[in-house]
Amino acid sequence: MSEALVSLRDVRVRYNRGPFWARSQFDAVRGVDLVIAPGETLGLVGESGSGKTTIGRLCLGLQQPTSGEVRFHGAPLAQAMAGRRRLAAVLQNPRMSLNPRLRIGTSIAEPLRIAGVDAASRVRKVSEKLERVSLQPDLARRYPHELSGGQRQRASIARALIGDPEFILFDEPVSALDVSIQAQILNMILDLQADLGFAALFISHDFAATRYVAQKIAVMLRGEIVDRADSAALFAPAAHPYTRQLQQASGLL
Ligand SMILES: Nc1ncnc2c1ncn2[C@@H]1O[C@H](COP(=O)(O)OP(=O)(O)O)[C@@H](O)[C@H]1O
Ligand SMILES: [Mg+2]
Repeated sequence: MSEALVSLRDVRVRYNRGPFWARSQFDAVRGVDLVIAPGETLGLVGESGSGKTTIGRLCLGLQQPTSGEVRFHGAPLAQAMAGRRRLAAVLQNPRMSLNPRLRIGTSIAEPLRIAGVDAASRVRKVSEKLERVSLQPDLARRYPHELSGGQRQRASIARALIGDPEFILFDEPVSALDVSIQAQILNMILDLQADLGFAALFISHDFAATRYVAQKIAVMLRGEIVDRADSAALFAPAAHPYTRQLQQASGLL
């Protein structure tokens, strides 16, 4: 077996549902096994509510599973959090990573500031990461509302890159963008990964976008992984009916 960077074993996440006088519990994630190797992109596709974001949060250690194991470099993730900068996230809404009241450069540098990196090095690193995502270094002085949607998402990718992460979660990173901008961002993610070699979990309800950036795909349906495939194989009709439905809906068949 190849070395795993992030692995989930038989993971279950149980949530409460309903008002307190009629509370019930349900499993948002059930029996999930996942392995992401160093440098690899795993795509996780499924409709809204299927449990994708919950899995992404587990991979980052932002929440703990009700049962099962989440490991980073083979160690329980809670322990691995000491090296927190090795994990990063790009979310659908850049507002989550770019504070509207802070200059872009300040937001991008935030993880470095917390890690105690000095101001001069922070400025240098922010310029370097802005350049990596094809943004002008002087954008660091602007505020999020002064940028276009695509520029804001590039800036949040720069922030994700700032600690040279081994693993990046991309949770619906292009879903809020115009279609013309989506392709640029997807291509940029591919280029960055080829250059920098981070592993990624790419979450989307868009099957075609996921297939474009991921080498392997896991298909989620109501909390379970119902199918897995290599992206290259998904030009042909999949055996699983739900995967085939996604292929048809995205025009791949
Ligand atoms: N903190 C929470 N408490 C209760 N239910 C939640 C919570 N987070 C998500 N859910 C529910 O769990 C299910 C899976 O959610 P999520 O992981 O966000 O799916 P996806 O990202 O695929 O849309 C949904 O039914 C959602 O409403
Ligand atoms: Mg989600």
